[in-house]
Amino acid sequence: MTQSYKAGIIGVGSVLPEKRLTNSQLECMVETSDEWIIKRTGIKERRIIDETVPLYKMAAIAATRAIEDAGLQPSDIDLIIATTVTPDYITPSLSCLVQKEIEAANAVAFDVSAACTGFIFALQTARQFIENRTYKNILIVSAEALSRATDYKDRKTCVLFGDGAGAAVLGTVEDGTGIESTIIGSIGSKGDVLTLPFLYTNQADIQNRNEGKTQVIWMDGSEVFTFASRIMGKVCQNVADNVGVTMDDIAYIVPHQANMRILQNAAKRLNISMDRIYSNLENTGNISSASIPVCIDEMHSKGLIKKGDKIIIVGFGGGLTYGASLLTWSKDD
Ligand SMILES: CC(C)(COP(=O)(O)OP(=O)(O)OC[C@H]1O[C@@H](n2cnc3c(N)ncnc32)[C@H](O)[C@@H]1OP(=O)(O)O)[C@@H](O)C(=O)NCCC(=O)NCCS
Repeated sequence: MTQSYKAGIIGVGSVLPEKRLTNSQLECMVETSDEWIIKRTGIKERRIIDETVPLYKMAAIAATRAIEDAGLQPSDIDLIIATTVTPDYITPSLSCLVQKEIEAANAVAFDVSAACTGFIFALQTARQFIENRTYKNILIVSAEALSRATDYKDRKTCVLFGDGAGAAVLGTVEDGTGIESTIIGSIGSKGDVLTLPFLYTNQADIQNRNEGKTQVIWMDGSEVFTFASRIMGKVCQNVADNVGVTMDDIAYIVPHQANMRILQNAAKRLNISMDRIYSNLENTGNISSASIPVCIDEMHSKGLIKKGDKIIIVGFGGGLTYGASLLTWSKDD
């Protein structure tokens, strides 16, 4: 039998912080209500990282779980790709910090920056290295501490975001399974509708934020909402068309968890029922690039996806960026 060089997910892991921030707690912080937040977003609570814990520690927990789930040791990992919009440091990168923490001494490590679509961009990058036989085992770790970049005086954003980390190990999988089709895209010309400045800020960045506090997320919510609702349905349909399957062949769509109404709009466009759109938004809020791998790990733990099932993961976010990948699940239960 010839060796397959098809790339697929062979291990998953995730972690959410213990501390919860509920809608009723937010009612005491800004002028909002539990009813408004649930009706307009679907979110009830988010998890918040302890202020003494660096992001890379949380990322390392998710990474270790994914490596164990793959039946590997950290020393087996050839490449680590990390994604985050809230790194502890610009340098060392999150991937290098995770490498040190988990003692993956044989790995090359770098970060990919694509905001909430980061996991899909990393997956597409990792896939190339496996299929061209450069690397065998690749760890993708997506970790976010959005509570550190949220203005808790801005009711338009502070109700949305939470913290968490998810990871996946990619390796070679049986033919007929693995990553079937991926699309990634960027619309840099529209990037100013969702920003998180770092070392440089322009006048618009300052004007958009409260009290000149610039290192926080600002968003034109309705622009992002319209973009996300349209792109999610379109890109899911495109990856399915590329493989020649219909939505009836898809066990689950696993979207970036931003707003329940975005997921409902996309479900309507795709003519697919909401029970095939996985969501944990109610309990996590939006955890940017970590949301998709956290969902995949939850679904795997709950036994919702079986070997041979087709799923579409789909993301959208800052940049603007978007992407989707159709996978045939390769793992046994
Ligand atoms: C942010 C978001 C929830 C706002 O919901 P919306 O229905 O579009 O609400 P709008 O922004 O139109 O605001 C409607 C009103 O609600 C108010 N409002 C906004 N946030 C509120 C809150 N937390 N509580 C109560 N009222 C709120 C607004 O101030 C506005 O009041 P006004 O009409 O008096 O000015 C929604 O736009 C959204 O989810 N956008 C996409 C966000 C996203 O996915 N971002 C990440 C992408 S990765």
